[in-house]
Amino acid sequence: MARVLVAGGAGYIGSQTLKLLSEQGHTVAALDNLSTGHKRLLLGAPLFEGDIRDSTFLQKTLADFRPEVIMHFCAKALVGESVEQPDTYYSNNVVGTYELLKSIKNYSIKTKFVFSSTCSIYGETNQAITEKNTIAPMNPYAKTKWICEQMLEDFQTSYGIESISLRYFNASGCDRNGKIGETHEPETHLIPRALLHLIDANRYPFQVFGNDYPTKDGSCVRDYIHVEDIANAHLLAMDFLLQGKAKSYQSFNLGTTKGHSVFEVIEAVKKVTKKDFPLKIGPRRAGDPPFLVSGSTKAKDVLGWQPALGLEEIVQTTWQWIQGGRNQ
Ligand SMILES: NC(=O)c1ccc[n+]([C@@H]2O[C@H](COP(=O)([O-])OP(=O)(O)OC[C@H]3O[C@@H](n4cnc5c(N)ncnc54)[C@H](O)[C@@H]3O)[C@@H](O)[C@H]2O)c1
Repeated sequence: MARVLVAGGAGYIGSQTLKLLSEQGHTVAALDNLSTGHKRLLLGAPLFEGDIRDSTFLQKTLADFRPEVIMHFCAKALVGESVEQPDTYYSNNVVGTYELLKSIKNYSIKTKFVFSSTCSIYGETNQAITEKNTIAPMNPYAKTKWICEQMLEDFQTSYGIESISLRYFNASGCDRNGKIGETHEPETHLIPRALLHLIDANRYPFQVFGNDYPTKDGSCVRDYIHVEDIANAHLLAMDFLLQGKAKSYQSFNLGTTKGHSVFEVIEAVKKVTKKDFPLKIGPRRAGDPPFLVSGSTKAKDVLGWQPALGLEEIVQTTWQWIQGGRNQ
């Protein structure tokens, strides 16, 4: 059993991973500044409240908690906002990650590191994406993630701090027991947004951004991966690192290899909720690539990771969360 510090543990994916770690008997704590996170998602886990850019706070947290593993979920993660305020993104995501790595270097280079990266670092393509694809991030958010990955590689090569980056495709779905789930404000992700629209159409207007893409039905195609599967991948990455198998820095795509168009997702929403709603088609959103689907089995081959939950479970669990715990 390991001592694991979950930075960003009060957020959507961090809290799901924190919960799984705790259920599996690891000693856990969250570190979070609660800028987009929620204390209630911690389900009682201890919290070190502060900012990863605060080196004094980090030093004290590491000395107090003595983590063997740090999982780093903290980030600002809205593409549009990153275009409007790149300074906020470079500060929070790049400086924050640098400070975390520096604190590990000062505390103990034996601390293992698992990093939340993203498929949006890849260049535009209409083919399924493997880790060998060209890296060409299209917006400041994605650029910050790619800079962090390069930093991780350098800190492993030069200082021996072993790390893994997990490049998520579209994280979605909520905990199957309905206790925690996606609680972003504003909610920009397709599935919760469509479901919130069904609950309150005035507060959550909904439109499809573009129906003239070169895809099967004209809408964007994405690879939706359930948050419980993502959490599970973090535990496998941690085991890989703790077993001393990381001879060099590694990155893995986390996707299902199956793409769903926006219109297919909307059909799944209608099927699960048994509700129909009129669709508004809006213009394309800047920076939205037509097709983002993983074509890699590296996480399966190396870490033994296999996503278990599909689109229907994703929609069902999000619907359960939105009707139940989300707004309580
Ligand atoms: N949600 C997705 O579809 C998706 C896809 C690819 C990658 N990612 C990455 O996964 C990670 C988690 O995403 P999420 O959707 O759970 O986001 P989230 O906003 O729900 O969680 C991020 C958490 O980090 C905390 N945080 C942010 N900046 C901080 C700072 N400077 N110091 C301390 N705490 C800070 C926030 O309060 C929040 O609790 C992010 O790094 C994101 O870039 C997410």
